[in-house]
Amino acid sequence: MRIVMIGSGYVGLVSGACLSEFGHDVVCVDTDIAKIEGLKVGKIPIYEPGLDEVVAANVKSGRLSFETDLKAAMEAAEAVFIAVGTPSRRGDGHADLSYVFAAAEEIAHNLKGYTVVVTKSTVPVGTNKKVAEIIKKVRPDADFDVASNPEFLREGSAIEDFRRPDRVVVGCHSDRARAVMREIYRPLYLNETPIVFTTCESSEIIKYASNAFLAAKITFINEMANLCEAVDANVQDVARGMGLDGRIGNKFLHAGPGYGGSCFPKDTLALLKTCQEYGTPTKIIEAVVAVNDARKIQMGAKIEKAFGGVAGKTIAILGLTFKPNTDDMRDAPSLVIVPYLKDKGAKIKAFDPEGMKEAKKHFEVEWCNETYETLQGADGLVILTEWNEFRALDLGKVKSLLKRPLLVDLRNIYRPDMMASAGFQYVSVGRPDVG
Ligand code: UDX
Repeated sequence: MRIVMIGSGYVGLVSGACLSEFGHDVVCVDTDIAKIEGLKVGKIPIYEPGLDEVVAANVKSGRLSFETDLKAAMEAAEAVFIAVGTPSRRGDGHADLSYVFAAAEEIAHNLKGYTVVVTKSTVPVGTNKKVAEIIKKVRPDADFDVASNPEFLREGSAIEDFRRPDRVVVGCHSDRARAVMREIYRPLYLNETPIVFTTCESSEIIKYASNAFLAAKITFINEMANLCEAVDANVQDVARGMGLDGRIGNKFLHAGPGYGGSCFPKDTLALLKTCQEYGTPTKIIEAVVAVNDARKIQMGAKIEKAFGGVAGKTIAILGLTFKPNTDDMRDAPSLVIVPYLKDKGAKIKAFDPEGMKEAKKHFEVEWCNETYETLQGADGLVILTEWNEFRALDLGKVKSLLKRPLLVDLRNIYRPDMMASAGFQYVSVGRPDVG
């Protein structure tokens, strides 16, 4: 099958590369000439484990290519995916659909023969209908259907998530479109991946409702972590005890500094807006957003308390990205926590394996090249992101480099009893402090 993917950002690039791996002929199109030129010579614009290999292998096989010219790419295409960004609109927090609508218009001008126009970007309910209207207005003669096919991949494990999803969701209103979508995802039938066929409207809601639910789950356990801290309970035991109930499930119950990233913050806000617009406001999501915003500041205060005040002190920070295995800093807790600590008079030394280039655009600190250099002469260590290389630190070395053996671990990657016997003052999330 010949597929065009419009937008070579995170979702577009991963989806395009993985669909070509499924055996389809995929052309990824982007208006960013430098990005496309780079991709043509194997330069991947984002950090995502395994993506470079999938791209290289499929370019070599001739199934994956990169273009700036949509007209040429769309010759004989059976499906065109829209995978452009839908950032939060400045001012009202709603999803900015201008890129989606611009793509729809451009597609309309280049349609030839029956084509399914698939929206992969995360878009509010009703958007696919609008996409269809735009295309019909430009080309009343066009033979096409729209389909909604939201993407659920996570940064850092995007390739695996695409190859082995829990489910594929497809919204469309015709058998012809359903047949095309079924063919696109045929390789997944072999792993018995459920494909949920529904309407565009339901499909659009599934994406937002899933992300908002997961954000709520994280926020819930974060609030339970606060209670655990107040009564000397252990939130990891609480999460395990809850998660073994199949109705609850054990995933997304890790307490931490609050969710960030490119999806949860933006999608919860957009869902709030949509619900308001349709006269069905959601108090739950409103609370989730407010609690998560406040949490990042609370984490600054937690660090301050652990250090006994931070004015004039040097704090070593390991990890800045919103989660490991990505260089993405969007809505990372560090964006709130680092300025908070600096405001209170702390001197910050920081290191992140992939995120520093991006972090440098947001704040100025003493940048370090590796873990142990960061610790040298600091009054204590704070772990903000759970990169694997921070999970097995040489504790003896850590102790000898720090002025004081203090570790604030906002990702709970160490065990309190181990840290106590290693002679540390150890502060984590939702678990008793030691030392
Ligand atoms: C998320 C969704 O998981 C994915 O399905 C959707 O397509 C895009 O948004 P992503 O943002 O890449 O993916 O990362 P995810 O692993 O879901 O983590 C999101 C945030 O929640 C991170 O800040 C992470 O640290 C935090 N988190 C996650 C927790 O604090 N606790 C958890 O238990 C899980």
